Amino acid sequence: MLDERAVVLEARGLNHHYGEGSRRVDVLFDNDIAVREGEIVIVTGPSGSGKTTLLTILGTMRRPSEGYVRVLGRDMLHATPADIEEVRGRLRFLFQRRNLLTSLSVLQNVVAGVAMTPLSRSGWDEARGKHLLGLLGLGDKFEAWPDELSGGQQQRVAVARILIGLPDLIIADEPTSALDRQSGRIVVDQLRELALKVRCAVLLSTHDERIFDVATRRLHIEDGRLHPVG
Ligand SMILES: Nc1ncnc2c1ncn2[C@@H]1O[C@H](COP(=O)(O)OP(=O)(O)OP(=O)(O)O)[C@@H](O)[C@H]1O
Ligand SMILES: [Mg+2]
Repeated sequence: MLDERAVVLEARGLNHHYGEGSRRVDVLFDNDIAVREGEIVIVTGPSGSGKTTLLTILGTMRRPSEGYVRVLGRDMLHATPADIEEVRGRLRFLFQRRNLLTSLSVLQNVVAGVAMTPLSRSGWDEARGKHLLGLLGLGDKFEAWPDELSGGQQQRVAVARILIGLPDLIIADEPTSALDRQSGRIVVDQLRELALKVRCAVLLSTHDERIFDVATRRLHIEDGRLHPVG
């Protein structure tokens, strides 16, 4: 059957190595991937298998050694600086930790996720930020500083900051690995909610079997090659 959902992220013939000569390390070999709107794709693989490398390439943070990469409709190899800026405005990263600005309050951190974007409406941003923090179980932490929160709470703030900007694509590198079970659950449930509601695509790497159930599809990377699971 023809799948008519738009392809948000696509790579073909993706190769990547670090270093040159005797220091060369080959990491990715001839990988193809496509992620469509509304999909939550989980990438698993042993430590050192290339998950972070893959996610940083697909997230426009790193240029691949070889291959075609298309993100949100733009061919990254031939993109102009304006194209790249547009793409980056529509995608968000979620890392394992250290996602917050320590000199802003929790609510200010969340609002920063939409400030200066076309979605921003004075008066509305704070209200939406408070609503999202409430959904993430942080309704009593608006004025707290990030340093006063646990790691799990900080990560939930980072998720609220992403959700408020209604991105078309979220790339998350082991977002729950440093979290307790409950925080991890809240984080992935909210990502899934966004994917379903506004058809955002989510590409997420993890070792955490507890969250495999949120995926609409799973890929495994080993020896530099991606394989479908199941
Ligand atoms: N900047 C770099 N320079 C040289 N080698 C690197 C660099 N970054 C990663 N590597 C190497 O590339 C390989 C893949 O690393 P990568 O971080 O992508 O793996 P990973 O699957 O994310 O691992 P983990 O599960 O531990 O996070 C590893 O062998 C690593 O040592
Ligand atoms: Mg990694």
